[in-house]
Amino acid sequence: MQQAITIADLRAIARRRLPRMVFDYIDGGADDEVALGLNEARLREVKLVPDVLVDVSAVRTGVTVLGQPSALPVFISPTAASRMFHTAGELAVARAAAAAGIPYSLSTLGSTTIESVGAAHPGGRNFQVYVWKDRGVVRETLARAKAAGFTGLILTVDVPVAGNRERDPRNHFTIPPQVNWHTATQTLARPAWLWDLATSAPIRPENFIEASKGHSGGVMEFLDRQFDRAVTWEDAAWMAREWGGPFAIKGVATAADARRCLDCGATAVWVSNHGGRQLDASPATIDLLPAVAEAVAGRAEVIFDGGIRRGQDAVKALALGATSCAIGRAYLWGLAAGGEAGVRRALAILEADIRRTLALIGCPDVAGLSGRFIAQGQPRR
Ligand code: FNR
Ligand code: LAC
Repeated sequence: MQQAITIADLRAIARRRLPRMVFDYIDGGADDEVALGLNEARLREVKLVPDVLVDVSAVRTGVTVLGQPSALPVFISPTAASRMFHTAGELAVARAAAAAGIPYSLSTLGSTTIESVGAAHPGGRNFQVYVWKDRGVVRETLARAKAAGFTGLILTVDVPVAGNRERDPRNHFTIPPQVNWHTATQTLARPAWLWDLATSAPIRPENFIEASKGHSGGVMEFLDRQFDRAVTWEDAAWMAREWGGPFAIKGVATAADARRCLDCGATAVWVSNHGGRQLDASPATIDLLPAVAEAVAGRAEVIFDGGIRRGQDAVKALALGATSCAIGRAYLWGLAAGGEAGVRRALAILEADIRRTLALIGCPDVAGLSGRFIAQGQPRR
């Protein structure tokens, strides 16, 4: 793992370890994958301008994420079925996050129980909700998450229907992955991965075994069959009341919706386009961030995600108004490359990069980041 110098190196290792369909599930986006590419490209185009002759002998990187302290301005975004990428799955990621002092977020579609993730991460831990058609299931889950010490709730709102990820059907990808006539070439080419799959517990939505019984198809069919398409602001307000703690709405794109989030009781507005996996015509999230941050105006947290591959990307988002940043693929590639050690490596790379960038721009505390550090001609807060 020490040989991986960048997140891109971890991705390259992940690609050698995973069958194509599993690698593509992480790597891919919707339709023509324009939003995915834009998230990365627009973030890269943002330029930082330094203050010089500032004492940067001590650099402070701590922020608050859903009410909890985070040692870094990046934390773990919820993602589905981590055990598919490495058998240690969610627990490996949660342990690496705990070691780095950053919050972990467990997906509704996680492949590990709420209780064991809760035990693996004593700090800020968030549960992400897709709204099951049966609201009784939702209520029960919130109670379970609370009992397991989860501190924040995340309602993901950019999946009213599944996005059109064309790599998945093309690769005959299913969760759990199947070895059959269609997938034999890709799976047999990765014998170590296949051995792990065959010799460990089945990969399934561990917290919703009843609700998801009998399903063994594609991710997109699963999402469309199980989750409610009729979720509205009233449901979000209900959820905020039911949870009664830090509550984020994930997948917000506009200032008007950011204000609605505050009206319905959210304590965090999360700018995201699901890593380009849903609406492919979405602008880059970094271009959406300034208007949302302006509308929120310090009344709630502003979480940013999409395309973070280097620590400087997070620094840019904070300068443009985010209070913290979530990472998806960056840690998943680490997980696939080397389990817990791989995630630790991903986080260490990002931390070093964040510290270096803060020193290079003469900003010894992330709390001091603002539009002042963004070069002219760039979106400003
Ligand atoms: C996701 N994402 C996601 N989001 C969510 O709210 N619930 C989920 O179950 C998942 N599952 C998921 C699986 C995989 C493989 C990926 C790559 C992403 C979206 C995720 O939380 C986040 O918004 C994006 O990954 C951010 O973009 P980057 O960092 O991957 O570019
Ligand atoms: C995804 C869903 C499960 O992005 O959120 O794959």
